[in-house]
Formats: sequence, structure tokens, C-alpha cells
Amino acid sequence: MGDNQAILKADGKDITMPVRSGTIGPDVIDIRKMYGESGMFTYDPGFTSTASCDSAITYIDGDEGVLLHRGYPIGQLAEHSSFMEVSYLLLNGELPSTPELSDFSRTISRHTMLHEQLMQFYRGFRRDAHPMAIMCGVVGALSAFYHDSTDIADPTHRKISSHRLIAKMPTIAAAAYKYSIGQPFLYPDNSLSYTGNFLRMTFGVPAEPYEVHPAVEKAMDRIFILHADHEQNASTSTVRLAGSSGANPFACIAAGIACLWGPAHGGANEAALNMLQEIGTPDRIPHYIERAKDKNDPFRLMGFGHRVYKNYDPRATVMQKTVREVFDALKVTDPVFEVAMRLEEMALNDPYFIEKKLFPNVDFYSGVILSAIGFPTTMFTALFALARTVGWVAQWNEMISDPGQKIGRPRQLYTGSAERDYLAIDKR
Ligand code: SDX
Repeated sequence: MGDNQAILKADGKDITMPVRSGTIGPDVIDIRKMYGESGMFTYDPGFTSTASCDSAITYIDGDEGVLLHRGYPIGQLAEHSSFMEVSYLLLNGELPSTPELSDFSRTISRHTMLHEQLMQFYRGFRRDAHPMAIMCGVVGALSAFYHDSTDIADPTHRKISSHRLIAKMPTIAAAAYKYSIGQPFLYPDNSLSYTGNFLRMTFGVPAEPYEVHPAVEKAMDRIFILHADHEQNASTSTVRLAGSSGANPFACIAAGIACLWGPAHGGANEAALNMLQEIGTPDRIPHYIERAKDKNDPFRLMGFGHRVYKNYDPRATVMQKTVREVFDALKVTDPVFEVAMRLEEMALNDPYFIEKKLFPNVDFYSGVILSAIGFPTTMFTALFALARTVGWVAQWNEMISDPGQKIGRPRQLYTGSAERDYLAIDKR
């Protein structure tokens, strides 16, 4: 490797490729000309060694357990900021001034209602439909209602549809929960905060006023901050790939929701709490740890391990602290929390987890808090999608406004049949 270049030696040829440096983090080898000069593709299923884009939004150092949003550490944002302020930061690159924040919050609150026709969509689902199935359908359907903001070449359209998506996700998620329990939908109440509005739409009823519990509002808002964005994870990469074809933002976010649903990704919070409840008591933990280590057993510790973090997920640290705050505020406890802490302690002292650098991730403790607040496990990933929408939208805007942006179209290593002639059926 010379100064700012890498040389690939292949088939007796030297192919020189530039090396680029970011602000912080690993350099990249710019291989865009490699196929043209070598006739070869790189090969990286799962993209473990591949940077798909330039981005200035989020930085992760997996070895050090560092997560920055526009340079600000997640621990400081979780401690001092609000989800609306972090949303402004992710979208605009700087923390807002007081007038900027109140203007942004007011704009978002003006988009919290759904078209009345869209509320009819829920009636087409069974009551036991998974909220993520509803979210995929209803968010995708937004593009049928908002033609006035789908010209992605128009920055004003992009801004309006971004605000609409951030504003409407709480209303959509709360309605999915209400529909599942047979209670009427509540309209947004814009005198409340973004998160307070969501809690009221979820847990309030028309029959009586709903008091937002300050400690619950603070914990929920912090959970939204912890889920807001996370570099080029699977669902964000899905949103970028869908957006690279010029698809409208509502369709792209619906694609991101679909990808997030998987248990290896955002679906892990639901799977983690189900796993902790199945374990039930600390004495059953060793059996599950042995199962997780058994190559012949597909069972994995849900909420553990991460593609990037080979150290403690900084979000899990904040999440564990928040469990205690919510338990104290609500004067509740849950034996599952004891199981989670003992499981973490035993796994982190087990050579298998130490050697493979498997630590709790954002999904390990979140379910304990959400369950204490009153959400069913089926709502956990919908809450993750609600919060991640601002990250998806910020990354989508960054991609669309990049002049060098082009449609994403990976190649492959072909392992199928070489060319062969068609055989008549009586010859087979
Ligand atoms: C999220 O990318 C992001 O940023 C995602 C996210 C975000 O904010 O967007 O952070 C949110 O998705 C968090 C991750 C939630 N998923 C889970 O908690 C599901 C359980 N975790 C695993 O499935 C796994 O750790 C992944 C999917 C998270 C990461 O998988 P990788 O990077 O592909 O790693 P791997 O599957 O190759 O595992 C490496 C080794 C393997 O053993 P070997 O084949 O090398 O012998 O570690 C083992 C795995 O078997 N392993 C686990 C394990 N996770 C990995 N063994 C037991 N339990 C686990 N949880």
C-alpha cells in the first residue's frame, strides 16, 4: 500500500486504486474502477468489509463501543437531548437553537394526523395482525395520499415528506396497537410533546383524560433517541437501495420497515423478551447459554452480538440504566430483569462469548422497559421503526442530494450451469 493508494496484483497485472480517508474511522480502498481494469468483481456477501457510501450522519467505532450522531456521543444525547432535538440534528447536521427547535417541533406537530381514508385501512386487517405487518401496509399506502410531496428531485417535497413520515409514525403505530385491542383510535393532541402525544394515543381512551407520566415520557423519549439512527445497518441500506431507483420516500421507508422486522435486526427486541420470559428463572440460564453455544442448535441469545460492536453497545448501557429509572418511577419490578442481568453476567464471563466478542446490544434490555410501560411484545419492533424513521429519512435525503448518487446494482459470483441447449421433453 503506497501513499493513499492500494495495488492489487492479479493475473500478472498491477491495478492501482486510490485510498480515501474519512474524518475518523477506517480508510477505504476506492474500487470503482476495479472491474473495468481487472475484469474481476470483489466478493463480500453480507458486506462485512464494504463501505456502500459516504455519510456524515452517524459514526460507530465497534471496537471501542462508540456511537456518534453528527459527532455527538449517544450517551450525552441520551442524557441531555430530546428526540425532537436529535431528529433536527440528524436531518440538519447541527443542534438547533431554541427558535429552530420550537419551529421544527411545531412543524412536525402539524403533520401528526392521518388522512381519514387511511384510517379505514386498519379495518381491513384481522385484529391479531402483527403491528409490523400493519406498519408495512399503512406506511407504503401513504404514497397513495401524498402525491404533492413525492417529487424527490424537489428539496421542498423531500422536506415535506420527511416531516410527514416523522410526524405520522407515532399516529400509525398507536393506531395499530388500538386496533389490536379493539379500542377506538385517539386523534393526536398537539398540546403534548411528540412522545407525550404518542403515549396518549397509545394508552389514552376517549372516556377520560390521559395524564402523561413524566418519567415514562422521559424514558420513552430516550428510547426513541437510542433507536434513531445507526449508520448503514440492514434496514437503512434497504432504504438507500430502494431510494437509489428514485422510488418515493414513503415506499422506501415501508421497505426499511419490512427489513427491520427480521429477528436478526429490529425484530430482536421482541425475540429477546420472549427468550427472557421463556428462560423464566436464573437457574435455567446455563441451559440456554449451552444451547446458544451449540453449533447444531439454531438458538441464539437474542439481544446479544452485533455486526459492528465487538464491545458493549453504548445504547445497551443507557437502556439498562433506564430500566431502573422506570421501575422506580412506576414502583414495579419484573423478574425478567433479574434474568437479563444474570444472563448478561454469565455470558460475559463465558469463553465462547468473550472469544467471539458478543455483548448485549440495543435490543437486550429495551423489551424489559417497554413491557413495564405497558406495551405488548408485538409492539416492540413497531416502536423501533417509529424511532428509526428519522434516521432512515436523514440517510435517504443524504443519498438523494449526493450529486454522485446512482442506482445500486451489485454483481455476483455465478455458480449456476454454463450455457446449454434446450432439450425437448421426450429427450429428458
Ligand atoms: C440490531 O447493524 C446494526 O447496526 C443493527 C442495529 C441497529 O441499530 O440498526 O444495531 C440493531 O439489529 C441489533 C442486533 C439485533 N440482533 C440480535 O440480537 C439477534 C442475535 N444476534 C445475532 O443473530 C448476531 O449477533 C447478529 C445478526 C446481530 C450479527 O451477526 P454477524 O455479524 O453476521 O455475526 P455472525 O452471525 O457471523 O456471528 C459471529 C459468530 C458466529 O459463530 P461462528 O459461526 O463464528 O462459530 O458469533 C456467533 C455466531 O454463531 N453468534 C452468536 C450470537 N451472535 C453471533 N452466538 C450465540 N448467540 C448470539 N446472539
